[in-house]
Amino acid sequence: MDLRQKVTTAFTEKFGSPPPLLVQAPGRVNLIGEHTDYNDGFVLPMAIDRGIWLALRPREDDQVAVHSLDFGETAVFHLSNLQNTNSGWAEYLKGVAWALQADGYTLRGWEGVMAGNVPKGAGLSSSAALELATARAFQQLSGFDWDAAKMAKLSQRAENKWVGVNCGIMDQMISAAGQAGHALLIDCRSLDAQLVPLPPALDGSGTAVVILDTTTRRGLVDSAYNERRQQCEAAAAHFGVTALRDVSIGEFLAEADNLPELTRRRARHVITENLRTLNAAKAMQNADAALLGQLMNESHASLRDDFEVTNEALNVIVTIAQAQDGCFGARMTGAGFGGCAVALVHEAKVAGFVTAVSDQYHQQTSHSPKIYVCHPSDGASAITQN
Ligand code: GLA
Repeated sequence: MDLRQKVTTAFTEKFGSPPPLLVQAPGRVNLIGEHTDYNDGFVLPMAIDRGIWLALRPREDDQVAVHSLDFGETAVFHLSNLQNTNSGWAEYLKGVAWALQADGYTLRGWEGVMAGNVPKGAGLSSSAALELATARAFQQLSGFDWDAAKMAKLSQRAENKWVGVNCGIMDQMISAAGQAGHALLIDCRSLDAQLVPLPPALDGSGTAVVILDTTTRRGLVDSAYNERRQQCEAAAAHFGVTALRDVSIGEFLAEADNLPELTRRRARHVITENLRTLNAAKAMQNADAALLGQLMNESHASLRDDFEVTNEALNVIVTIAQAQDGCFGARMTGAGFGGCAVALVHEAKVAGFVTAVSDQYHQQTSHSPKIYVCHPSDGASAITQN
């Protein structure tokens, strides 16, 4: 049963009539542009056909009551008295309510049922999906316009300040603004976003985006992530700019020998990754799958050697993927330190690719990967029904 049907059925059983409103928001996979968003740089993610769905109806008071089918729990809170109790998934909803209200929006209460199918903790942004689905629900019921960039920023604020995770803007932006069939080139400083189509293979067949979950997870990802952010800020300070986005490759090379070794490698990753991301968007516009794949491979090497956010499992699965017939390129995706890789694969070769990567990865690591063939999908959306 798909998620839309699942939440509709559960809502109807619980409330005795079908839901007047459905909202959904997707998870994401980033094709290229990793650890660049908090450097005011460029990213190129796409929304995936996995997300969070909510079936709901308005309430007359300021209470929000949501039953999660995945957790088998109901969260209840009041918009006029939001309390942070560090209680897991409900804090994402409360955090979005808090951020919207703090920005001056007047919100209305609602009740409903939710379900999702973004694997949690895999680096595919299940939390951004939950935030943007919540923002969509409030937007529909409280009657204000959907401004994707603004909703992304407020959802990011909820995650930074209410949930306490210091993420950049990428995940919320793509979940808010994705479009079917496309990836989105996002300028993380201006939040300008440009749609770019997935390139076809040379013979005119389609290409597929395949997510390879190593199923390895590292603890302390937050502190490793924050450490990288600090290293980037130190590098920007060395150049006297607000963010590494402002350092050209020429300026970097002229100064490279004067930088401490670690700062040099961190900065080199970010500066070259921004260039690769802009080139990747051009390659996609030119229908050049081979060049996009090559840039993905280069991105992985930079994340492994200069930024040091891969682990052994990611390196193994990427090496296996890159060696397969029909694979244009592969790299780790998301924050790293475990989690997922992404590969661009000739559509006709996908089935063989999935079997070969799965078998070889299992042989080499004894982990069983989870593999998802994904389609670029729409960002947060709403369906009203009478
Ligand atoms: C996580 C963060 C994003 C981004 C990536 C790395 O997914 O949530 O903001 O920084 O890591 O590119």
